[in-house]
Amino acid sequence: MSGGQFVSNCTADAMARAAEVLAAGALVAFPTETVYGLGADATNADAVSRIYAVKGRPADHPLIVHLADMQDIADWSDDIPDYAIALARSFWPGPMTLILKRSSLAKDFITGGQDTVGLRVPNHVIALALLNEFKKIGGKGVAAPSANRFGHVSPTTADAVSKELSEYLSSGDLILDGGASLVGVESTIIDCTTESPKILRPGAITEEMIKEVTKLNLSYDATEIRVSGALENHYSPLAQVLLDIEPQPGDGFIALSRYETPEGVHRLASPKTDEEFARQMYTALRSADTQKLIRVIVKQPEGTGISIAIRDRLQRASRGR
Ligand code: TXA
Ligand code: MG
Repeated sequence: MSGGQFVSNCTADAMARAAEVLAAGALVAFPTETVYGLGADATNADAVSRIYAVKGRPADHPLIVHLADMQDIADWSDDIPDYAIALARSFWPGPMTLILKRSSLAKDFITGGQDTVGLRVPNHVIALALLNEFKKIGGKGVAAPSANRFGHVSPTTADAVSKELSEYLSSGDLILDGGASLVGVESTIIDCTTESPKILRPGAITEEMIKEVTKLNLSYDATEIRVSGALENHYSPLAQVLLDIEPQPGDGFIALSRYETPEGVHRLASPKTDEEFARQMYTALRSADTQKLIRVIVKQPEGTGISIAIRDRLQRASRGR
C-alpha cells in the first residue's frame, strides 16, 4: 500500500487536522451518506488538479462543491431561484446536489468551464465536522467527486477507497473512515438553472419528493445532460454485469432476498428492501471482482423510489467498462 493515511478515529481534533490538510492543498477522502468523496479545497486549482490525476478523470468534468451549511451557497451562486431554496430547506443536509448559476468564486477548474456549479450539503457527521472545521479556518468549500477511479464503481466504505486509490494518493493525503455509507448511491442531481427543476441523475431524493416541495413539474432532457455519471460506461466492475437473466453455476448473483440462489451460484447480496439494495449494491459489485468472477447477474428491483436510481446505475454498469 502506498499513499493515503487511514484515519479511523475521527475525533474533533482529528477533523481539525484533516481541515488543515485540505487547507495545505492535499487531498482528504471522506465519508458521506451517499458514497465516499475525494476532497480538495475547491478554491485551490493545484489541489483540484490532483483529484483529476488520482481519479484518472478527464479535466472537463465538473465537480460538486460540498458545503457545511445551506447559507454557504450564496458564496458560490448569486442567482438562486426560490424553488432551489425550498429544495435546500427540505433536503439538506442530504443526498441532493443542486446545479446553480455560478458566482465568480466557482472557477473553470471546478465547473469544467460551464457557467453552472454543483453544490451539496452532505448528511454525515464526519463530512459535516470536516466541512465545519475547514470553514472555521477560512475554507469556502470542498470539491469532491466519488472516490473511485474514473468509470469504476463508487466506494461506500473507507476500505474500498483505500483499495481503489491508495496507489495514486500521496503520503500527506488522508482517508477518513466513517463506516459504510447509509444511502449507497450517489446524490440526486437537480438542474436549477431553468424555470422548473430537472433531474440530471436520479438518487434518494425522488421526483415525487421534488414535486411535492416545489409544486412544479419536472422536465427531463437527456441531450443536455453533462454529467459524467451519465456517460454510457460507468459504475462498472471488471466482471460483466448482466441484468434480469437466469444465473448459471459460477456466476455472481445480486437480488432481493425473496429470490433464491440457484445451485452453484455465488450470492453476493440478498437485501430485504430497495433501500438495503442501494446500500449493498456497490460493495456487492466490488466483491465480484475480489472473487474474480467473470459475470455477475443482477435482478433489478422494480417500482419507483430509490429503485429508479438503482436501475439507472445498474444499466450503466451493464454497458461494461
Ligand atoms: O453523492 C454524491 O454526489 C457524491 C458524494 C461524494 O457527494 N459525489 C459524486 O461526485 O457523485 P461525482 O463527481 O462522482 O459525480 C458528480 C456528477 C458528475 O458526473 C458531474 O459531471 C456532475 O455531478 N456535475 C457537477 N457539477 C455539475 C454542473 N455544474 N453541471 C452539470 N453536472 C455537474
Ligand atoms: Mg462518480
